[in-house]
Amino acid sequence: MQTLFIANWKMNMSFAKISAYADIFRKQFRALKDGRRDVVFAPPFLYLGATQDYLAFSDGISLGAQNVHWLESGAHTGEVSAAMLLEYGVDNAIVGHSERRQFYGENNADVSKRAKACLKHEIKPIVCVGEKEFSNIEISYTEVLSQLQSSLEGITDEEATKLIIAYEPLWAIGTGKAATTEIISLLHDGIRVELSKLFPKNGNTVPVLYGGSTTPENIAEIMSLENVSGALVGGASLNPDVFSQLINNGRSSKGID
Ligand code: PGA
Repeated sequence: MQTLFIANWKMNMSFAKISAYADIFRKQFRALKDGRRDVVFAPPFLYLGATQDYLAFSDGISLGAQNVHWLESGAHTGEVSAAMLLEYGVDNAIVGHSERRQFYGENNADVSKRAKACLKHEIKPIVCVGEKEFSNIEISYTEVLSQLQSSLEGITDEEATKLIIAYEPLWAIGTGKAATTEIISLLHDGIRVELSKLFPKNGNTVPVLYGGSTTPENIAEIMSLENVSGALVGGASLNPDVFSQLINNGRSSKGID
């Protein structure tokens, strides 16, 4: 299973900060020997160009977007389409992040439309799911698996080869309190089983990332779990030293160098 580390910069950074970040990050980052790109930077739309120039031209690094609209073009003020992102060299797009769901009213039907638009344009969607609160594992399963089914509605088994899932419990995002490895393991196993049901041919190969207060200190334990392929990283991706350390520790945990 491939490793994958996505830097979700959210509404942070500036042109000056990106250039300073890149100087430090590129000194510490090594691309994988097999040439695979396992690191994605997802900046605010406005900084896609600078991120492309400073970071995503390097071996091993791809460019990502934080959102995408499902239509090609038209009267949709403030929106950006998958066709436009592709033109810019974007490889991945986060869809259905909990902050979009929570603060901007996105629902599962929107998420599936966004994911499908990505797939149509050969952009790999990173579809986020996660429960709002944790009370017990059964409730979390039900909430997360139903989100997963509805968010992936209409996606074919063939298209699943381009799909990435991120399990991001809301209560762990930006709180400094990652989910326990027990919860992560149970939810990732459940997601894996569901993916295999939804996509009998390719479901087993879909990377499932964990997101929520990952750090260089906790990533090795999280990635030692069988069904965790990588991380969607918020706060810890804003510092180049911290993010490169997180990548190194996560890779080593999977025996990759
Ligand atoms: P965090 O954010 O790493 O700051 O918790 C993760 C995310 O929202 O993707």
